[in-house]
Amino acid sequence: MIILAIETSCDDTCVAVVKVKGQKSPSFKIVSNIVSSQVRIHRKWGGVYPTLAKREHQKNLPIVLKKALFSAKNPKMNLIAVTVGPGLEPCLWVGVNFAKEIAKKLNLPILPVNHIEAHILSNFLTKKNIPLPAVCLIVSGGHTQLILMRNFANYKILGETRDDAAGECFDKVARMLGLGYPGGPIISKIAKKAKDRDPSSIKLPRPMIYQKNYDFSFSGLKTAVLYDYKNRTQKVRRSKKYIQEMATEVQQAVIDVLIYKTLRATKEYRAKAIILGGGVTANTELRKQFKEKIESEFPNIQYLIPDIQFSTDNATMVAIAAYFHWLRGRKIKPDSIVVNANLTL
Ligand code: KG4
Ligand code: ZN
Repeated sequence: MIILAIETSCDDTCVAVVKVKGQKSPSFKIVSNIVSSQVRIHRKWGGVYPTLAKREHQKNLPIVLKKALFSAKNPKMNLIAVTVGPGLEPCLWVGVNFAKEIAKKLNLPILPVNHIEAHILSNFLTKKNIPLPAVCLIVSGGHTQLILMRNFANYKILGETRDDAAGECFDKVARMLGLGYPGGPIISKIAKKAKDRDPSSIKLPRPMIYQKNYDFSFSGLKTAVLYDYKNRTQKVRRSKKYIQEMATEVQQAVIDVLIYKTLRATKEYRAKAIILGGGVTANTELRKQFKEKIESEFPNIQYLIPDIQFSTDNATMVAIAAYFHWLRGRKIKPDSIVVNANLTL
């Protein structure tokens, strides 16, 4: 089966062609995977500007599709998959309307996909069988959710952020420090360069870490950065040392909370696997520290994280999610497919 998948939930215009073999433990082969990032356009706003993002998707989607089909050598497709939420409503509609048009033109079935589920299932690209139940941590620019996956289409949200998402926190902190956008990759890069760090210099809180729930809160962390910043002299604020210390500490604060809560959920729900996904999992320090902690505390548990390229938004994960629904016999009338910006699992 060959799936054509479309993803436009935020600021990446993505199209993928994915070939699937097998039913019990399917294997996915990427025929083409094109991502057109709008980062350059949103940079001057310091964040994603929805109406601008919509316009860019409208402009880019036909070009990205053409590229994807060309590099796939015009494959014979069997199914169309499209993200319907959660995400930015105007952006989602561009992808959904486009996908419906293609499905109609080619007379193909079409399946709606949940963006969060797609991030989770992106891990099936490299792993055929994942032992369940699994505790899944999805951390992106819009979401921070801890999810218990008992089976396909059987998810329970254990906790989520009460305010800002982890990626949003990185983005806002980077803007505050005048580092640019998107903040996650910039903070990660600066933190990597920070050697011989003095651990006592800046100490930020680890919000909600010891609370007996699985919720998160990152807006307080952002405010703590702001207070520290305001209390420094111009000279210190502008110094390379201060920026490096702050980048390292804010990154560590986020990592500490994410690891602590994920491992506590793993223990409580006796999970057999820990699944990570979403843009923030592109962070190399987070990947390393999760691995080390899981290996030392849960050596028998599988740790799954997508390749960095598939941690951030892409359409391959949308194809994978659609296939699992297809296997379960899900059929949807194209006209009934609508966008849901606040879609939950
Ligand atoms: O999943 P994603 O591509 O889009 C959404 O669904 O939101 O995630 C984007 C988020 C942004 O907030 C970005 O700053 C963050 O992921 N991000 C990172 C890194 N790369 C992207 N955060 C930390 N470290 C990174 N290397
Ligand atoms: Zn995402």
